[in-house]
Amino acid sequence: MKCKAAICHGVGHDWSIEEIEVDPPKPGEVLVRWTHAGLCHSDEHLLTGDFDPPPEAKQAMGIESIFPIIGGHEGAGVVAEVGSGVTSVAVGDHVSASFVPACGTCRYCSSGRQNLCDQGGGAFLPGMITDGTSRHRLADGTELLLMAKLGTFAEYSCVAESQVIKVDTDLPLDVVSLVSCGVATGWGSATRRGDVRPGDTVVVVGCGGIGMNAVQGAAMAGAKRVVAIDPLEFKRETAMEFGATHAFASMEEAFAPVTEMTAGQMAEVVIMTPGVLYGDLMNLGTKLAGKGGTIVATAVAPITQTSADVNLFELTLWQKEIKGTIFGSLNPRADIPNLLSMYQAGTLKLDELITNTYPLDDINVGYQAMRDGENIRGVVVHAG
Ligand SMILES: NC(=O)c1ccc[n+]([C@@H]2O[C@H](COP(=O)([O-])OP(=O)(O)OC[C@H]3O[C@@H](n4cnc5c(N)ncnc54)[C@H](O)[C@@H]3O)[C@@H](O)[C@H]2O)c1
Ligand SMILES: [Zn+2]
Ligand SMILES: [Zn+2]
Repeated sequence: MKCKAAICHGVGHDWSIEEIEVDPPKPGEVLVRWTHAGLCHSDEHLLTGDFDPPPEAKQAMGIESIFPIIGGHEGAGVVAEVGSGVTSVAVGDHVSASFVPACGTCRYCSSGRQNLCDQGGGAFLPGMITDGTSRHRLADGTELLLMAKLGTFAEYSCVAESQVIKVDTDLPLDVVSLVSCGVATGWGSATRRGDVRPGDTVVVVGCGGIGMNAVQGAAMAGAKRVVAIDPLEFKRETAMEFGATHAFASMEEAFAPVTEMTAGQMAEVVIMTPGVLYGDLMNLGTKLAGKGGTIVATAVAPITQTSADVNLFELTLWQKEIKGTIFGSLNPRADIPNLLSMYQAGTLKLDELITNTYPLDDINVGYQAMRDGENIRGVVVHAG
């Protein structure tokens, strides 16, 4: 079938809206008609080159390029067709994307760590998770990669069954799309990976689509203080509505007040969710955490960055922990429905995350708004 998709042809390019050809699903695959796609910062890393492996890494991977690639890994839609052997979804079901696959049988899935599912390796290799062959092509026959093997910036894409999660049909699909990455990642960074406890002081650095949900998660977990840090006043004001108790424009500005409000103890948990995790941000990021404190690195650094500015003396003697996280260390098959049930019960804010919506043709306008800090989240609403 033919449909439209937003494609990135290389570092420094904008999104290009083009007609693509999508093959029908093979065994274990699902063709999804995506209705909504969230504009997460992770797709922006494709355009800036943060995600582009250096030449030696590409050589080791056996690829020349990760481009052209269909963008989008936050998404929700309707199952259009299923391949043989698919049992967890049927035609007409509403689904959330899951940018981390959850096969259910690998050693990570079977030990409660679906976010580390073995099927997630090779996300930037061409071809399907199922058999390594491609289902998506440009009009001239060029095979396309898919961001996180999902490509929710296409009207239709063919994905592995392990990357779709059935959701209630009465849920609005725009909010389902946000739960598929931003909400889960931010909320889990606080509640699961950060293990925020009642009475904690939590600092969230960067209050975009991910950080706002870290603020929301920390407040729900019972933090006594949630300190939101973002240079933009709009983000700081919104963070206060999502449960922040204090807001500052920078880590530098927050340092003395956090020292004072905690009587020098500093934060139990610091969650790093700026747009890009440059190594120098880790200096104050780790200093804002106190003895026994946890620093959760959720934002993505440029792929070639190998150094971070961390006081190792304090790391050792103050017994701090720096932890990475993918998908907020949640389990997509359990936690996406759980987060959506909290929305249905009125305890999780989701509608308030969507600042603007865009037709696919205006996706570059949406990403410019993200760069300009105008959106908590922008959402592409696919036609039809
Ligand atoms: N680990 C994961 O599984 C995962 C999943 C999704 C996204 N991410 C990453 O999380 C990061 C955030 O994504 P997003 O969609 O929320 O981005 P976003 O652009 O919507 O928000 C980033 C926010 O950080 C603020 N900011 C930038 N520099 C700052 C600084 N020095 N101090 C304080 N605030 C600062 C910006 O003003 C903005 O409000 C990105 O790196 C993204 O790739 C990681
Ligand atoms: Zn994302
Ligand atoms: Zn698995």
